Amino acid sequence: MKEIDGKVAVITGAASGIGRELALELVRAKASVVLGDVDEKGLAETAALVAEAGGVARIVTCDVSKPEQVDELAARSYEQFGAVHLLFNNAGVGVLGPTWTTTLEDWQWVLGINVMGVVHGIRAFVPRMIQQGGPAHVINTASVAGLVSIPGNSVYAVSKHSVVALSECLYHDLKVAGTSIGVSVLCPAYVNTGIGDSARNRPQELSATNPHAADYEPMLRKALASGRLSAADVAKITVEAVRNDRFYVLPHPKIKSSIESRMRDILDERNPTNLLPT
Ligand SMILES: NC(=O)c1ccc[n+]([C@@H]2O[C@H](COP(=O)([O-])OP(=O)(O)OC[C@H]3O[C@@H](n4cnc5c(N)ncnc54)[C@H](O)[C@@H]3O)[C@@H](O)[C@H]2O)c1
Repeated sequence: MKEIDGKVAVITGAASGIGRELALELVRAKASVVLGDVDEKGLAETAALVAEAGGVARIVTCDVSKPEQVDELAARSYEQFGAVHLLFNNAGVGVLGPTWTTTLEDWQWVLGINVMGVVHGIRAFVPRMIQQGGPAHVINTASVAGLVSIPGNSVYAVSKHSVVALSECLYHDLKVAGTSIGVSVLCPAYVNTGIGDSARNRPQELSATNPHAADYEPMLRKALASGRLSAADVAKITVEAVRNDRFYVLPHPKIKSSIESRMRDILDERNPTNLLPT
């Protein structure tokens, strides 16, 4: 998708962090944006920032874990613009804690958003994109957590490894079908956003969380605070990758040594290396 000017982009998780900055970066590139999120106040704030940047945002309250709400996001986007060229399946949440004390609610909440949210986005938008014809691009936000596995991170890692695999299969399927729809998978390391406070939007009925989550929080907060790139940097790198039709988007090059170490463990059939600093 070389030319972003005049295109229509839909972004989930657009009320905060990376999603908000993607919206601003796309508007600066002269795209029209549709913003989806569960956080209405945050959506309104992003829409105000978009207006300041000289763009117009259509906002749709949307819980990506609910297929009917993602269908509605697609229906409203197509009603308004007649086409969608860029879909950013970006909404995501995280939880921490040892695997065996992870609650069923942790699994349901995180997989419902991080995995099924992306599935719902693909199911709602890709058939319409194929039908509209011409170039389009789907960008799924995974994480470096989709390429490595660290202690205390099973739910999030399972979700993000799934997004990487889902994106790779989608890429192949769209090529085999002869479409001109590209795919990218965004895999950032730590970025200082609202991700450490993901529970702010957690539904009451899924609120039971890992009793040992708090043990891991200081490590996460420290890592987020020391993130070398801002959400705006990540958005810029991502939009550039879309322009260049690049599938794997790894904004933090230093983390590649950890990815390599995991790949080496697999290829050498060595037991997994603990990639956290001890
Ligand atoms: N911040 C990081 O260090 C980091 C690193 C790698 C990947 N990511 C991924 O980046 C993406 C964006 O996260 P962020 O870091 O900007 O965090 P963030 O918390 O700032 O933004 C996430 C957004 O998702 C929204 N959201 C939560 N539940 C939702 C739901 N059910 N439906 C729709 N929207 C929902 C939140 O309201 C929020 O606006 C996520 O997929 C996250 O996993 C983040």
